[in-house]
Amino acid sequence: MNKESTSIQFNSQGRLQHFLTIEGLHKSHILEILDLATSFLTVGKREVKKVPLLRGKTVVSLFFEASTRTRTSFELAAKRLSADLLNIPVGASSTQKGESLLDTLKTLQAMHSDMFIVRHPGSGASHFIAQHVVPGVAVINAGDGRHAHPTQAILDLLTIRQHKKDFSTLSMAIVGDVLHSRVARSILQALRILEVPHIRVVGPRTLIPKGIEEWGVHVYDSLEEGLVDVDVIMMLRLQKERMQGGFLPSEHEYYRHYGLTAEKLSCAKPDVIVMHPGPINRGVEIASEVADGPHSVILQQVSNGIAVRMAIMAMVLGRVAEAPIP
Ligand code: NCD
Repeated sequence: MNKESTSIQFNSQGRLQHFLTIEGLHKSHILEILDLATSFLTVGKREVKKVPLLRGKTVVSLFFEASTRTRTSFELAAKRLSADLLNIPVGASSTQKGESLLDTLKTLQAMHSDMFIVRHPGSGASHFIAQHVVPGVAVINAGDGRHAHPTQAILDLLTIRQHKKDFSTLSMAIVGDVLHSRVARSILQALRILEVPHIRVVGPRTLIPKGIEEWGVHVYDSLEEGLVDVDVIMMLRLQKERMQGGFLPSEHEYYRHYGLTAEKLSCAKPDVIVMHPGPINRGVEIASEVADGPHSVILQQVSNGIAVRMAIMAMVLGRVAEAPIP
């Protein structure tokens, strides 16, 4: 599936027509999205928070899984680009009455939608939709199962770049439930494409994918050791909705070993930044003093998410000049 979803992202001229996965993107392409997103950051600070890039375009938000921040972030991004936004409450839609995903899609296409933003519990769902839309309609993956969350990876990179400038010397630790995390998969792919030299994953062995060392990452069982001298820490939520028992002794025990407290944070570089995709579980993976403390960039990630999604939406609909992939 991965090879296909990589190639379906690009049209015959090598331009992005869907945004489904980080895999297959070129370094220059990621940097281009980051630059465009940076130029959109100020839109949210203006009195009139709008640019006309997607005026007259219809964007459909299709969320088959609960989400607050990603859904609102996409919706605000669409509105700030002046698109018409249709938010389908999937729980109440015809899919609940037995209509297939494809029939729902065909119905929405018949209404001349230009873009689908898709979140789905099944890995590969947005790729499936991208295979079935008519040419010219774009699909953006807002998270599919444990497979990918590519817009999150780009907003994470933008946040890192605002603080650390140079990816080529970076040392980063990703901590927690890597096994069930689409956020981890996507950021790991992005860090590799950007040739970040020191990537660590930290967590209990039951929550670290087997063979992950082949990705060029170093695995640590101990949080204190895994944090020594890192520039960036990304904390992950325990994705209990994807666990079928037996992964953890207890949350209390987990917090004792892997919860990020101010004391454990002191193992990292003095100017370390702490990230988390949200939603955060205080007292499970992160202490409040750290989540709300001076090293935390968690809310900055949220603000950056809107600009990043604006950039990607404008790009896939061909509304900005974009260099083809070399
Ligand atoms: C993440 C997700 O849904 O994969 N959250 C998000 O998009 N903001 C991570 C998570 O749910 O823990």
